Amino acid sequence: LREQGLDEIKKASNEKKLNDVRVELIGRKGELTKILHSMKEVAPEDRREVGQKVNELRDLFNQRLGEAKDELVKALIQKRLEDEKIDVTLPGRTSALGSKHPLYLILDDLESYFIGMGYKVVQGPEIETDHYCFEMMNLPKDHPARDMQATFYIDSEDLLRTQTSGDQARVLEKHDFSQGPLKMVGPGKVYRRDDDDATHSHQFMQMEGLVVDKNITMSDLKGTLDMIAKHVFGQDRETRLRPSYFPFTEPSVEMDVSCFNCDGKGCPVCKYTGWIEVLGAGMVHPNVLENAGIDSTVYGGFAFGLGLDRFAILKYGIDDIRDFYTNDVRFLKQFRKEE
Ligand code: PHE
Repeated sequence: LREQGLDEIKKASNEKKLNDVRVELIGRKGELTKILHSMKEVAPEDRREVGQKVNELRDLFNQRLGEAKDELVKALIQKRLEDEKIDVTLPGRTSALGSKHPLYLILDDLESYFIGMGYKVVQGPEIETDHYCFEMMNLPKDHPARDMQATFYIDSEDLLRTQTSGDQARVLEKHDFSQGPLKMVGPGKVYRRDDDDATHSHQFMQMEGLVVDKNITMSDLKGTLDMIAKHVFGQDRETRLRPSYFPFTEPSVEMDVSCFNCDGKGCPVCKYTGWIEVLGAGMVHPNVLENAGIDSTVYGGFAFGLGLDRFAILKYGIDDIRDFYTNDVRFLKQFRKEE
């Protein structure tokens, strides 16, 4: 029995078979138990010795069974380790990278540029009130300049903002000048009732800018705008201001940059004028300050509003504004940064 038992333990090739062998050898109905049960047939003087032998054998089987089980578990772990081995020298699988939307290339760049000059970034609501979008901005309900911006009205008070200029009023109302000058930019989406085509979109993006303090002059505005133009379109750009009209600035200007396509010589991009219009700006109208409870005889400032779509179209040579909003990956992929 001893030899047979040890042999069976050795041959058991998995835990289930090993357990069967255990039951067969030392289980309650196993071989050793059978011997113990048949002790009465053994001569009384031999019982002691037989009992001892049986015990020894049980200990031996137990020990071997234990060892065999350890072996099996070890082999199992070893096999798993081999199966799940990772070859760290294989090239990795790369996942396709997305790309930043061109409008956000311009937006993020301008934001950090202004933050670097001490401006704070604010974000007004896209569903704006008539109050902030127009009234506070010196555009009362009967003002003819309201026709400049075809508006989506939601009801008599709420509308989809046509400009980010409402952000000016919101910030002016809250600013505490004892804490220093007001310097902010407000980027965001705006909406106008326009039929979409290559150069018009009912939705586009603006970035508002506002600086208010004592002793702010038109040359501060001129210098700031010139820096923006050079930052976005290149250091060798020249700029010029032309008189214009906005209800919330006086005087009002529009800025042109020298055409970066033909360097001022004349081409289709600048319609052969050598100049490209890029933004509107001006000195904050006293009414806008007074509407927000600020003494316009003490404080003054400048404001500007630029179209991010227009900036991106000019900078990247995009010929259809709708490309920004139709999410064609072939268009977007062109702006992927090469690693
Ligand atoms: N809000 C004006 C527009 O949408 C732009 C602007 C902003 C002009 C601030 C002057 C000052 O056309």
